[in-house]
Amino acid sequence: PDAAPTFYLTTPIYYVNDAPHIGHAYTTVAADVITRWHRQRQEDVWFLTGTDEHGQKVMRTAQAHGVTPQQWADRLVEESWKPVLATLDAANDDFIRTTEPRHIERVQAFIQDLYDRGEIYAGSYEGPYCVGCEEYKLPGDLVDGTGELEGEKLCPIHGRPVEMLAEQNYFFRMSAYAERLLAHYEANPTFVQPASARNEIVSFVSQGLADLSISRSTFDWGIPIPWDTSHVLYVWFDALLNYATAAGLHATDPAEQARFERLWPADVHLVGKDILRFHAAIWPAMLMAAELPLPRQVFAHGWLLVGGEKMSKSKLTGIAPDQIIDTFGSDAFRYYFLRAIAFGQDGSFSWEDLHARYTAELANGFGNLASRVAAMVGRYYDGALPAAGAPTAAEDALADVAARAVADADAAIDRLALHEAIAAVWTLVEATNGYLTEQAPWSAAKTEVGVDGTYPQGGRLATVLVTSAEALRVLAVLLHPVIPRAAAALWESLGAEVPLGALAAQPVSGAAAFGTLPAGTVVTKGASLFPRIEEPAEQ
Ligand code: MSP
Repeated sequence: PDAAPTFYLTTPIYYVNDAPHIGHAYTTVAADVITRWHRQRQEDVWFLTGTDEHGQKVMRTAQAHGVTPQQWADRLVEESWKPVLATLDAANDDFIRTTEPRHIERVQAFIQDLYDRGEIYAGSYEGPYCVGCEEYKLPGDLVDGTGELEGEKLCPIHGRPVEMLAEQNYFFRMSAYAERLLAHYEANPTFVQPASARNEIVSFVSQGLADLSISRSTFDWGIPIPWDTSHVLYVWFDALLNYATAAGLHATDPAEQARFERLWPADVHLVGKDILRFHAAIWPAMLMAAELPLPRQVFAHGWLLVGGEKMSKSKLTGIAPDQIIDTFGSDAFRYYFLRAIAFGQDGSFSWEDLHARYTAELANGFGNLASRVAAMVGRYYDGALPAAGAPTAAEDALADVAARAVADADAAIDRLALHEAIAAVWTLVEATNGYLTEQAPWSAAKTEVGVDGTYPQGGRLATVLVTSAEALRVLAVLLHPVIPRAAAALWESLGAEVPLGALAAQPVSGAAAFGTLPAGTVVTKGASLFPRIEEPAEQ
């Protein structure tokens, strides 16, 4: 058989100056849902995440805490950034740290190659720099300070004064790539998505690109420039390369080289909209200069807002993922942020909204459905799934909803419309609830019950319960990428593993076909998938 198609997706690598908040977790969870969906399609998936450890921002934080940058990074990675992946149930395949030798060596090989190709030259830079963004700013990007900051020029994202740099640096000839980038956007309409992000990038690059300063010599927390070790590489140049170095670019080990051949180009770089230009302009220009294939897509999601502004630790509006997950669980966290916010747009988090959706959608809508069906199979058939009778129009209609939910969700995932994918799946939750209400198996039970108190095979009661169990089976498969714990518990409760195999092995494409759970399948009513939660106090 042909090898399964590969699907390589990345998150940004996170700055280790601070611990993760739910804005960072949002990117990771979205990446995890997309890659789990592709795995459920039985594709050969690679999901990369990691940490961005060099540069002034991390260096200054370490200094402020009286430790070396390496000590600081080690501590944050081990105590915060790796553990949060487990908290979120993220199933990443690799975790790259930019301080690892594999990354440093391969980055040095890459920039030496660019230098040898004449893509890098020595020059001098003078202009504003935001350490929060680790970005050279244009005067037009800045806003005027007010109050205490009167007379200062501020970064619009961080609201803090920029620093004026005047340094001898090495430059990348990025200006030479503006035309080729525009041609690439034109020829590949889905290279930058969603449309708002694409428009922003096209208009940005249309104004022309300046050459990019790619080295710093006033501090040393970075990757040394191989031909001039008095300079370290600009942290974004270093960081962007992680997507290729982790996949095996410039590896010396043949197995790593083979992995690069298999994975590159990346399918999706998932990023927040604040770092779109780096990914959709600078990164592809770097790859063009090195004559490497470009990633297939850069997708920019929106921001989680607090009081109308981007949530951030530096503005003290950060909420730690644990604050939500300790109460609601990881499944609810994953579900809520991807369901409630259109992926690609900004959204506001509120405890009330989270609690309301948890209760209405997860506890009452889905969890309750699963426990009612299992309870009825228990009550009427001692937990052994009966044999269904001939389907009527009602069963056919539910099967149609299931088929449409599978097709619509699958297509929405390809557009990275994650909220639409979940909404498509939820049509089946709602239709199954409606089906149960209308078919009222408890009424059929009253008329069909035998003199000996048993219930017949092949009647309406049996047919409705089997059909509902089939709908739940489809839901377990479709929701496995989104709410993996509840989906696994449901699979267990349906006793599906014995006849059908592991949940992860169920392909999305075949999921909708009803009639797969044989009579006699052992259904058990486990613990509630989403137990009731008291309205949380204002946090
Ligand atoms: N280190 C760089 C990325 C380098 S990638 C080669 C960086 N790190 S970050 O930790 O500041 O941000 C990482 C990701 O978290 C970005 O995608 C960013 O958009 C996301 N978020 C940080 N705050 C966010 C919100 N308030 N809302 C949504 N996402 C946000 O940038």
